Amino acid sequence: MDAKLFDAAKAAMARAYAPYSKFSVGAAILAEDGRIYAGCNVENASFPEGWCAETSALGAMVTAGATRIREIAVIGASALTTPCGGCRQRLAEFGAADTPVHICGPEGHRKTFRLGELLPAAFDKDHLG
Ligand code: THU
Repeated sequence: MDAKLFDAAKAAMARAYAPYSKFSVGAAILAEDGRIYAGCNVENASFPEGWCAETSALGAMVTAGATRIREIAVIGASALTTPCGGCRQRLAEFGAADTPVHICGPEGHRKTFRLGELLPAAFDKDHLG
């Protein structure tokens, strides 16, 4: 995994707004255009209204005009901060089964999954006919 991707995810993690869970997460996407889009989790006093770091990063990517993910790095303090179910579905919209999902801790890379491993048999646009 490229150090720049890790650095972007870590910098985003430092910006997390997580006063309720105290669990900061950062995500950084290397998109098809060769650029990196990062995001952090943004919590809310109305707990279900908060959102994840991966969702923030996807929003930045799409806003910039990119719609395909080459790789994504996610960083958090748990043993393996893997994307939640909803984010797996959102990532699948813009990635492929073989898209690398690099899971990191504050010290660096820990494990790489493929998106298809995290969300097998994904529901996607092909199902809509
Ligand atoms: N969270 C993320 O941002 N990404 C993940 O991959 C897992 C969970 C956030 C959501 C919430 O703000 C906090 O972590 C605790 O669940």
